Amino acid sequence: MPPLLIAIDGTAGAGKGTLARALARRYHLAHLDTGCLYRALGLAVLNQNLDPTDEQSVVDLARSLLSTLDLKNPALREEAVGVAASHVAAIPEVRALLFAFQRNFAQHPPEGMQGCVMDGRDIGRVVMPEALCKIYVTASPEVRATRRCKELHEKGIYSIYDDILKDIRERDERDQTRKVSPLIPAEDAFVLDTSQMTIEDVIHKACAYIDAKWVAPEKTRRAEGK
Ligand code: DC
Repeated sequence: MPPLLIAIDGTAGAGKGTLARALARRYHLAHLDTGCLYRALGLAVLNQNLDPTDEQSVVDLARSLLSTLDLKNPALREEAVGVAASHVAAIPEVRALLFAFQRNFAQHPPEGMQGCVMDGRDIGRVVMPEALCKIYVTASPEVRATRRCKELHEKGIYSIYDDILKDIRERDERDQTRKVSPLIPAEDAFVLDTSQMTIEDVIHKACAYIDAKWVAPEKTRRAEGK
């Protein structure tokens, strides 16, 4: 079978990560959460007391840290780091530096994997435009804020719904209106609005789409001996 590339894009907190991990397990694919790259840089910026909107110092830091970014640090999930990430992600030179890393991952998935699933904001349009399967996941800001508050509450972290909602709206605005690689669904993306869906529904719908695009045609090709 040819390698399977799945691009998942969408708004912050819409469930991209959960879907991407489920698809990676089901189709035996490598997974890259590209938001972690921007978050790792955002965290480094905060740790060095730099201003995330100061382009030159962020680019200098990105160059010096690129090969050593820690993508597993639990602090990456913090709200302040997400905000810093969305600022550094708007810097064209930062995107260019991280683009090369992501392309390399798409072209050389770890050995034994059938391909890769990558989630982010510009995967279907910029990083892997050749991906056979493109899914755009979104949900209303209110639903995303409610989910985020619940998640934080379950971790014992106190949060204020209005603050989270404001943060989500501002982040959407920055992600969707920046000059380079703004968050827009790819023309050929399968759009999933998860506002009224459970995660099981989302996974089920995504798998039906992938099976129709990849598994079924491949079976036909094999049956025809091609
Ligand atoms: O998905 P996330 O919340 O972890 O992403 C953090 C920030 O990084 C988000 O504001 C947008 C940015 N990002 C991006 O611009 N392009 C990507 N491919 C992934 C994330």
